[in-house]
Amino acid sequence: MSYTITLLPSGHTFQAKGSQTIVEAAIDEGVHLPYGCRNGACGACKGKIIAGKVLFEDYQSSVISEDEIKNGMSLFCKAMPLENLTIEIKELNITNNIRPKIFPVRVESLEKLTHDVMLMKLKLPSTDKLQFVAGQYLEFLLKDGKRRAFSIASPSHESSLLEIHLRLIPGGEFTKYVFQEMKEKSILRVEGPFGNFFLRENSLKPMIFVAGGTGFAPIKGMIEESIKKGMQRPIKLYRGARVLEDLYMDEICQRWVDEFLHIKYIPVLSEPDKKDAWQGRVSLVHEAVLEDYANFKDYQLYCCGAPQMVEVAHQTFIAQGLPEDEFYSDAFTFAPIKTLQDTFKDVLMIDGF
Ligand SMILES: Cc1cc2nc3c(=O)[nH]c(=O)nc-3n(C[C@H](O)[C@H](O)[C@H](O)COP(=O)(O)OP(=O)(O)OC[C@H]3O[C@@H](n4cnc5c(N)ncnc54)[C@H](O)[C@@H]3O)c2cc1C
Ligand code: FES
Repeated sequence: MSYTITLLPSGHTFQAKGSQTIVEAAIDEGVHLPYGCRNGACGACKGKIIAGKVLFEDYQSSVISEDEIKNGMSLFCKAMPLENLTIEIKELNITNNIRPKIFPVRVESLEKLTHDVMLMKLKLPSTDKLQFVAGQYLEFLLKDGKRRAFSIASPSHESSLLEIHLRLIPGGEFTKYVFQEMKEKSILRVEGPFGNFFLRENSLKPMIFVAGGTGFAPIKGMIEESIKKGMQRPIKLYRGARVLEDLYMDEICQRWVDEFLHIKYIPVLSEPDKKDAWQGRVSLVHEAVLEDYANFKDYQLYCCGAPQMVEVAHQTFIAQGLPEDEFYSDAFTFAPIKTLQDTFKDVLMIDGF
């Protein structure tokens, strides 16, 4: 069974097969809809159902209200067509034709960078090359259909060895396994690349990068990619951490500054330890950015980290003049991904208007 999905205002159409969600079908068909987590937790894929019925899977109520749902809004990463649909959502102006695929990777190395951040290097089979753009993410495929998303921290010209920065989550199933049990040379299955968090190169605007914790991972890949491509647009990187130890790979950022005049680096600690004798900036990372700019109208802003940080940054930077379509982000959301069986326990039927 397949359904036709018509997009407004563009009038473009694509097909959704079987039990695909609208976002899954769009990715499959090379249609660029906005999305982030693919998990009903970030709100990036929100749009309106104009006509047709969907099955709306479980989602985080913090990102879509009951009123919005009553008014025909939906999260398209969690909405499965039940008939032909007409939906309203702004397509992204992206020209790449990268499709995700499932492939095996070998854990080449595991190196603890701090007490709770692991640098994991993943080797692809020698016959395989992954097409991606820096900033995108992979999903590890766990048993029982569970998935865990992690950003690729390396640039695309180093595609045979992928770098991941993985923060240990207390009580977290996958990250605990990585920290406590996983051995080098293990074979894992991943799917990717996913996501729309990558450099927009068709602009001359200076770029501000805001990274919280392991939100540095995709940003590192993007900055390395910009260097490799010889891009000269001014870059200002703000990195937020709680204490000095959390600023892993600080030396890489310092090296960029030493080697490239167009790159500036501002580390910001929120709760520096006395023993750190920290002389740098002290605040939340987005506050440090706000202190330095009166207006963001002439900038592009790339932001990645905890969902609360990304949300506050979005609101405050837009309020200070940043054009809505110049804010690019990945929020490290973590709603558990349910198996198909679980999923059908709590679903909503939504009718378009
Ligand atoms: C697009 C995307 C890219 C991501 N990239 C990265 C990355 O590069 N590096 C990285 O470290 N993380 C990243 N994350 C976050 C990562 O996917 C989650 O932290 C992951 O769920 C952890 O898996 P787990 O099995 O250890 O924890 P789970 O078993 O999924 O979680 C157990 C419980 O811990 C809590 N929890 C889980 N994750 C978090 C979190 N991040 N913060 C606060 N509480 C949490 C929740 O309450 C959850 O119920 C990314 C997330 C997304 C959506
Ligand atoms: S992509 Fe749909 S809510 Fe995040």
